[in-house]
Amino acid sequence: MSDDETVVVSARRMLTADVCEFELRRADGALFEPAGPGSHITVHTPSGEARSYSLTSDVSDRSRRVIAVRRDENGRGGSRSMVDEVHDGDELVISAARNAFELVEAPSYLLVAAGIGITPIRAMLVELLRRGVADVRLVYLSRSRDETPYLEEIEEIAELTGAGADSMTLHHRTIHGAFDWWPLLEAPGERHLYVCGPEPLQNELRALTMHWRPSRVHMEDFAGVSAFGEISLPFEVDWQPTGARIPVTSDQTMLAALEGAGIDVDSSCGSGTCGTCRLSLVEGEADHRDVVLTESERAHFVMPCVSRAVSDRLVVAPITVVPQ
Ligand code: FES
Repeated sequence: MSDDETVVVSARRMLTADVCEFELRRADGALFEPAGPGSHITVHTPSGEARSYSLTSDVSDRSRRVIAVRRDENGRGGSRSMVDEVHDGDELVISAARNAFELVEAPSYLLVAAGIGITPIRAMLVELLRRGVADVRLVYLSRSRDETPYLEEIEEIAELTGAGADSMTLHHRTIHGAFDWWPLLEAPGERHLYVCGPEPLQNELRALTMHWRPSRVHMEDFAGVSAFGEISLPFEVDWQPTGARIPVTSDQTMLAALEGAGIDVDSSCGSGTCGTCRLSLVEGEADHRDVVLTESERAHFVMPCVSRAVSDRLVVAPITVVPQ
């Protein structure tokens, strides 16, 4: 990625037995570009895997980026190498911050986090409290107290703000069982819902918010979607700036085909969730497989890391080129 930069790990601490927080500062001591709550960065981990992590803490502090990484024993190795091999003073290469989970202005918020999903939600909570927004409700799900990153901090915030159990709910599934969402979701009002957690939780909350305006329901899941999970037929993609015509085989993503042809497309998650690889859709009908674009955006944009073509050919361009 062209906007990669080298940072130094200025502090690390274990938040739970398997979640480690890293504080990163620019090697030259300069400030980072501004980033809003909900932003993420891509980290080139020691294992060689690139991984996207949400910024947590107060993102208005531009002297540092703070991320928290859950060590996934069964993952591809990126998170394990971060927790096991990255120490104070080490250098890492990270991307600029990007935001596909933006906090919009609203009179009322319901923030839902599960486990490590607290990272972007914590940044949102800090920002909303800083702005003095009064109507903020947090539901934070985890298996137990021991497996709850930032537990004491959230409890302190609840105490300091006088919010108490009415607006800051810590729900430990092994103690409390299933959470009853309906009282919170039945009457949406002007509220915006932000959810960061695993797919089953997102599916449950999507089903329970079918009566909400879609623009008020915001979800984040870096587990992402698959470009090959459905039938994948070959097609062609034309790169409008040069007119190059590139074949995309059935076992290849459009992104890989473009990159294979020497076209540099900025990308991050590779799973249709972060919004980084967005291209203008100039011509053709796309088979949209991402979870980023809204219905109205799908007529004009495509995410080549997962999406494919319904028509035989798509014409795409960088998003700086306005679609005709
Ligand atoms: S790289 Fe993240 S949506 Fe395509």
